[in-house]
This record gives sequence, structure tokens and C-alpha cells, in this order.
Amino acid sequence: MTGVLDRYQRPLGSLRISVTDRCNLRCRYCMPEDEYTWLPRSSLLSFEEITRAAAAFASLGAGKIRLTGGEPLLRQGLTDLVAMLRVVPGVAEIALTTNGLLLAPLARQLREAGLDRITMSLDTLQPERMAAFARSSHHADAIAGLDAAREAGFERLKINAVLVRGFNDDEIVPLVRFARARGVEMRFIEYMDVGGATRWSSADVVSREEILTTLAAECAGVTPMPRIDDPRAPAERFRLGDGTIVGIIASTTAPFCRDCDRARLTADGTFFRCLYGETGIDLRGPIREGISDGGLGELVAAAWRDRADRGAEDRTHVADRGILVQLAGLKADPRKEMHVRGG
Ligand code: GTP
Ligand code: 5AD
Ligand code: SF4
Repeated sequence: MTGVLDRYQRPLGSLRISVTDRCNLRCRYCMPEDEYTWLPRSSLLSFEEITRAAAAFASLGAGKIRLTGGEPLLRQGLTDLVAMLRVVPGVAEIALTTNGLLLAPLARQLREAGLDRITMSLDTLQPERMAAFARSSHHADAIAGLDAAREAGFERLKINAVLVRGFNDDEIVPLVRFARARGVEMRFIEYMDVGGATRWSSADVVSREEILTTLAAECAGVTPMPRIDDPRAPAERFRLGDGTIVGIIASTTAPFCRDCDRARLTADGTFFRCLYGETGIDLRGPIREGISDGGLGELVAAAWRDRADRGAEDRTHVADRGILVQLAGLKADPRKEMHVRGG
């Protein structure tokens, strides 16, 4: 493995692979519209193509892989992809971010194929809120998915909740208790003005500070934990009065760009160097035109060396911060959507 550094000396350390742009939820912070422009099927990378791309990234240091979407479990045969990635040289860890609706029947197979970790998105404990906020009546399936993941032996499970004012900001403590009772780490994410968040407003962001104030008042205090195990992880971790650990991802008010080591690959093989990146680099074309492994590695390495993105930090300097990409812009280029570049 030969490491590669970007213009700010940040190594390439992880790769988020979006395996599909489809989703079976319509969370208001991510997919609030009635209609979407989907990626053409013929443009989706096959598992062989994804594995080749992953091998190129892994050879440059991206040993952590996270499968995401849309909803990754909508991609048929995902277990096979996990097994293929498992044997790629340099891949140390494979994780999955899922809304859990389809997880219960798949958890054991995924574990056996070599999936290491699962993070589940769960924004509310109230089924009627999920119905209103994500247009789904399958809350029970999400909970069943989480329980199946525990039973299948997944350790270090995490739950991610995006907090949106007036929707679930009164569920901080209930979610912490829910996760604690299941031995799962709860993480709260600030609502981000990413592409696709067309209802975003700064007034709806529940900040890190507010979350900490609530936790301190209602959970017998919060103590920050040192970032020793993974200094590049986006979540800051805190210990509550009773010893429970809670994470906060403050991408909106206190972004972590200076430590960001993540590359993203869309389902159609476009490589993005930042969640907020304007343009991506097409890897599908070169792969389908027969580029060599060395050539592919060099293409990725050259793009990473040239990386100067600090998207979330740049957003904090925008006066009157509003929607990042207007609807017409998303329709014209769906790769600007968070659900296409991988949540
Ligand atoms: P682990 O620490 O390994 O669990 O991974 P992770 O925290 O990267 O995983 P996860 O997919 O759970 O990411 C958590 C959330 O952080 C995402 O859902 C986004 O809201 C946010 N996030 C992920 N990637 C980025 C990024 O590149 N930039 C910013 N600003 N936020 C991100
Ligand atoms: N703000 C913060 N996180 C978001 N996600 C999607 N849209 C947003 C947004 N606007 C993340 C959530 C979700 C994951 C799939 O994508 O963390 O759990
Ligand atoms: Fe919700 Fe994730 Fe689907 Fe977006 S991609 S609608 S956040 S489950």
C-alpha cells in the first residue's frame, strides 16, 4: 500500500460506496420531493466494477469501506458484494449505513459474508412521526432490523439520528435511553445543508451546543472523551453521568473537514472528494474502456493529490446560509443529491 496525501496533507483513508440511488424512505432532510431523476440502470457499476474501484482506493490507503445509498439493502445481492470486497488487499473494515427496514432477514447473511459493522439511521421512536417525516409505515421493521443485527453478532452498532427542530428535538433523551437499553451507541447529527436538503433552514438545525445542554441537564452531566481510537472520525464522543457514551456529528456548526479522509463513489462510478464537491471524476468510463489496475490507481491518486475541498467549512462562511442547490440544479445533475453521493 502506498499512501497518498491531498493538498492539505490529508491522507486517503476511507471510501464510501453508494450502491444505489434508490431509497425506500423519503426523509424530509434528504429526499423531500415527490419525484426524482434516477441514475440510468446501464450506468450502475456491477459488483465486479465496484470491487475493482475499491481495490484501487484500498491500494492507496482507503482501508475502511462503508456501503451506503440511497438505501444499500435495496441493491440485489449486496451480500455477494460484501464477500467480494472482503478479500480485496488493503480492505481492513467493511461497514454499512442503512435505514434497517430490510435488515432483519439479511443481518445474519451479511455477517457471514464478512460485514464488520452496521450503523442504522433511526430518527424517531414514534411510528406516526416516521410516517409523517419519512413517508413510511414500517417503523417496526426498522426496530426488527436493529434487533436482528444484534442477534447476528454485530458489535459496536450505532444509531444515527438527524435532529430537526420541531420534528424530533424532543427525542434526544428517549433515543439515548433506547440505544443504551440495547447496548448500541447513539449519535446525533446536525441537519446539514447538503444537496437534496431543499427544506433546509438554519432555524431548523439543532446544534451541538443545544444537544449538549439537553444531555447535561437531563443525563447527569456530559464529559468529552479524548479522540484516541479514531482521530479522523466525524463524531465527537461524550460520556454521560451514568457512563453511557453518546456521539455528536456537528457537520453544520463545527465541521471536521481538516481531518476528513473520505472518498465517495456514486453508484454510477463517479468519484467525489467531498460531500459538497462541485464536480466528480468519472471512473466508470475508464473502467469500461479497459484501463489497467495501475492506470486506475494513478487516476485516483492524482485526483486525491489535487484535493483541496473543505466543503462543510466553506459553508460556515456563507452569509445568509440557505439551500445549497436549488431544485432545478438537482434535477439537472442528480449527482448533487446526498442520496446519490452517499449519506
Ligand atoms: P464511523 O465513525 O466509522 O461509524 O463512520 P461514520 O461516522 O462516517 O459513518 P456514518 O455513515 O454513520 O456517517 C455519519 C454521518 O456523518 C452521515 O450520515 C452524514 O450526516 C455525516 N457525514 C458523513 N460523511 C460526511 C462528510 O464527508 N462530510 C460531512 N460534513 N459530513 C459527513
Ligand atoms: N443532514 C444530515 N445528515 C443527512 N443525511 C442525509 N441527509 C442529511 C442531512 N440533510 C445522512 C443521515 C442519514 C444518512 C443516510 O444520511 O445521517 O442517516
Ligand atoms: Fe432517508 Fe437515507 Fe433514504 Fe435519505 S437516503 S431518504 S436519509 S434513508
